[in-house]
Amino acid sequence: METAAISTHGVMEGGGSYNRHARIPAGGGNRALPYLEKAARSCALPPGNSPIVIADYGSSQGKNSLTPMRSAVRCLRTRVGRGRPIAVVHVDQHANDFNTLFEVLHSDPERYSMDDPHVFPSAIGRSFYENVLPGEHVALGWCSYAAVWLSRVPALVPGHFVAFAITGDAQTAFDRQAADDWRRFLSLRARELHPGGRLVVVLPGLNDGGASGFEPLFNGANAVLDELVEARLISGDERKRMVLGAYPRRRVQLLEPFAAEGHFQSLSVEHCELFDLPDAAWASYQQDGDVEALAGRQAAFFRAVFVPSLASAVADAGRRQAFPDWVEQRLKRRLSELLAPFHSFVQVMVLAKHCPDCPDVASLERSEG
Ligand SMILES: C[S@@+](CC[C@H](N)C(=O)[O-])C[C@H]1O[C@@H](n2cnc3c(N)ncnc32)[C@H](O)[C@@H]1O
Repeated sequence: METAAISTHGVMEGGGSYNRHARIPAGGGNRALPYLEKAARSCALPPGNSPIVIADYGSSQGKNSLTPMRSAVRCLRTRVGRGRPIAVVHVDQHANDFNTLFEVLHSDPERYSMDDPHVFPSAIGRSFYENVLPGEHVALGWCSYAAVWLSRVPALVPGHFVAFAITGDAQTAFDRQAADDWRRFLSLRARELHPGGRLVVVLPGLNDGGASGFEPLFNGANAVLDELVEARLISGDERKRMVLGAYPRRRVQLLEPFAAEGHFQSLSVEHCELFDLPDAAWASYQQDGDVEALAGRQAAFFRAVFVPSLASAVADAGRRQAFPDWVEQRLKRRLSELLAPFHSFVQVMVLAKHCPDCPDVASLERSEG
């Protein structure tokens, strides 16, 4: 099939680049913190003094995981005291920049293990479309801005590189892949969760009209790819094969597996809500009027998140190495002429694994006073 050679990995730019430029996902994750904290207060815990496992699915280089993991640990500590071991497992693809992740876990001033000797961080390099942890192992799962990446790119997108621009057969292929991957992701997590465990999934969202808010960014970047073909820096064939395996789902698509029976396998939906996400870079620009800084931040975000996937379609190593700079410089110029905020959305979902023997949340909260 024509797309077979397209890399689908969705791995972020290494050397800590993602950590430096991922303020938008950080904002989305922050919006979901109250739901994570509630989940940490209500999830069932393994018996005795056995370790409580928190899984962070799609951690990337770790900086954006520090606040949610610290909040989760703090909430669990109010339930179990300081001596109980808590294991935090960061999961990402094998090609992720794990060196930066471990550097962050070891020495970032915000690291969640700093003043808690009974928190044990670790990492696993494996796709979350496979089993990553033993069955009934995880009390609390967190997955932020990661399950939007599909397990593979199912079709080319003529004239563009993102799924929002598709129609016809390509659209059907993306819709089907996204539905299959979502069910697979949920099934695997259902198996890994302890009965009564919770999984909090945070995703870039779509509003009722199907807009993500990133259209100006994606359309600007698409025009840059055309420029690169015209300048003969990349070939038409390479450009055609640049497709992101990212697919923001509508609320109805996220809820679809639960529609028939009110649950999917052993999971049920405790919460599912879409929020507007204020654009922090735009807010800074409104204060300081610094066009260079705004366009620079927007282009650097695009580079850190999306360019590695696009670059994988460039055939030779020399041009592949130069490609991120080509894209970022041209995109920055375009964005500084456009000057638009990103009106994006964040979708927060809380899932609970069925547990016949667990007290209900309300009685847990009452007993905690
Ligand atoms: C945009 S980053 C999100 C990082 C962090 N959770 C945050 O909120 O900023 C998406 C991460 O998901 C990871 N990812 C994508 N597909 C994955 C898969 N199949 N298995 C594990 N991780 C995956 C990518 O490698 C990347 O590190």
